[in-house]
Amino acid sequence: MNILLRIQRLTRLPNKKSLEICKRYTNNDRVSYKNKIKSGPGLKEFIIGNVDPVNTDVPYIPYLRQNLLIPKKRKIYFDVYGCQMNLNDTEIVWSILKNEGFEKTENEEDADVFLVMTCAIREGAETKIWHRLDHLRGFKRRAMKNKNRPVKIGILGCMAERLKEKLIEKEKSVDVVAGPDSYRDLPRLLALTDNGQTAVNVLLSLDETYADVVPVRLNQDCISAFISIMRGCDNMCTYCIVPFTRGRERSRPVDSIVEEVQQLADQGVKEVTLLGQNVNSYRDISKATEKTNTSVAKGFRTVYKNKKGGLRFADLLDKVSSVDPEMRIRFTAAHPKDFPDEVLQIISERPNICKMLHLPAQSGSTAVLDRMRRGYTREAYLELVDHVKSCIPAVGLSTDMICGFCGETEEEFEETLSLMELVDYNTAFLFPYSMREKTTAYRRYEDDVPDHVKKERHGRLLEVYRRKSQTLNEAEVGNTHLVLVEGVVKKTGQLYGRNEVYMKVVFDEGEIMSDDGGKRAMRIGDYVAVKIVGAKSSVLSGVPLCHTSLSEFYRERIWGENSIEL
Ligand code: SAH
Ligand code: SF4
Ligand code: F3S
Repeated sequence: MNILLRIQRLTRLPNKKSLEICKRYTNNDRVSYKNKIKSGPGLKEFIIGNVDPVNTDVPYIPYLRQNLLIPKKRKIYFDVYGCQMNLNDTEIVWSILKNEGFEKTENEEDADVFLVMTCAIREGAETKIWHRLDHLRGFKRRAMKNKNRPVKIGILGCMAERLKEKLIEKEKSVDVVAGPDSYRDLPRLLALTDNGQTAVNVLLSLDETYADVVPVRLNQDCISAFISIMRGCDNMCTYCIVPFTRGRERSRPVDSIVEEVQQLADQGVKEVTLLGQNVNSYRDISKATEKTNTSVAKGFRTVYKNKKGGLRFADLLDKVSSVDPEMRIRFTAAHPKDFPDEVLQIISERPNICKMLHLPAQSGSTAVLDRMRRGYTREAYLELVDHVKSCIPAVGLSTDMICGFCGETEEEFEETLSLMELVDYNTAFLFPYSMREKTTAYRRYEDDVPDHVKKERHGRLLEVYRRKSQTLNEAEVGNTHLVLVEGVVKKTGQLYGRNEVYMKVVFDEGEIMSDDGGKRAMRIGDYVAVKIVGAKSSVLSGVPLCHTSLSEFYRERIWGENSIEL
């Protein structure tokens, strides 16, 4: 991309200023002069005179304290708030810092550095983090007073990006503020704090995807893993802070994603979730394609120009699901505008892609959807649901809904309730609206639905959701589900796992029939055929029948008429 354009997009400076920077940046003379200097001897060579009198292997540089040359093994304590992308970002940060010699601790008392991965989506999310900072401030003061031990606090992620320097002004105990695109800079930012300085990097990038950083999983025993396939969001829904905290949408090259899936499969991981704010608008533009890239589906609009060329989400799903037929593939979050038939087809064809779609409606009222700038009407959304169901008959659905958005009348809210009645959602995430500074809604609309009304509407939404998911789950009693065993329920010692539509299934542990005709105990990471015998609104209980594999379970379809048909 043209450098001037990139500078303009990144800095949002007017033309003239950007042009000045651009000229400076592209000054060839200066670049070649710099290169000449780079290849010559450095300052170090001029002043190295002798060897260290204590350690003869280390060149002696008289003006530097030796402890600055040898990186101190500092211990980090991670605190993670917010969405799954934050969890994966923490694994990226951990990979970067581990490479620099940092260690990780689960014990607050051992920590030299606290890194808090933050969320800014609603006011409540930020309140939780301020409470945590209250605690950390006290901890830091006590560590210094009682043990003369300096402890550093770093704030990472979306709240860091939203508040920038203001965060340090408001909370003096914070030493580092780093936004979602500046994690490579963390070793430097943390080094700066050694001298008592504070350090801030909240620059957003147009192309950072951390594609070359292999995340180090925080829980190595977990049989499922997250893979970020894209970052940022261009949708600019009027209520949402994410485009401001995570920047422009960019996708990670397909090859690096496929490679990571392969590595995870080799490590014994059985399930990957592809992550992004809008995964189904994935586009690897480094790969030229002959395909004409159609615009979004009929009835859906975007605020940005249609993106052209490159590999798209259907191509990615094809490649990722081909790595290992026994690896379950999930993805989130998706936007209803980006479900072309190619995507639906590949999901229905591949047994290892879960038949579960997140179709966040946000509201059931066309007028509210318009104010939210979601780019579709209630009718277009409902048509999409019908179409998805005709392409993938046993598909599970989930949604996000907001109640009490600016100007939402009782009638408009009732349309959301009626949408929840019409569509059978297996899972729904329901939120009372929370006004965020910087967003279009903040500038254009009034947050005029009183808190008690938002709360009351939220309660009504929850009631419909729980009633309906209870009915949906009860309809599964008698059917047999494929469950990937994930862990042990602490209280009861039973095993639990997830079925295809991500519903938790609980069952007794023990030995069951295995493929060789014998019996063996169930372990975490096993695929088990489980007959459902009981249902609540958010959990199923079952009886394990036999060990199986993903391909076998769906190939044989041995579970009779009542089984989930795929
Ligand atoms: N990109 C994803 C996830 C965005 S954040 C998506 O579009 O689905 C997750 C959810 O938080 C959103 O779907 C929305 O329902 C909710 N949300 C976002 N901003 C909000 C706000 N200001 N108040 C209340 N809920 C909000
Ligand atoms: Fe926010 Fe909308 Fe982007 Fe989701 S699609 S992250 S709700 S702006
Ligand atoms: Fe929160 Fe940022 Fe995720 S605002 S929901 S952590 S993208």
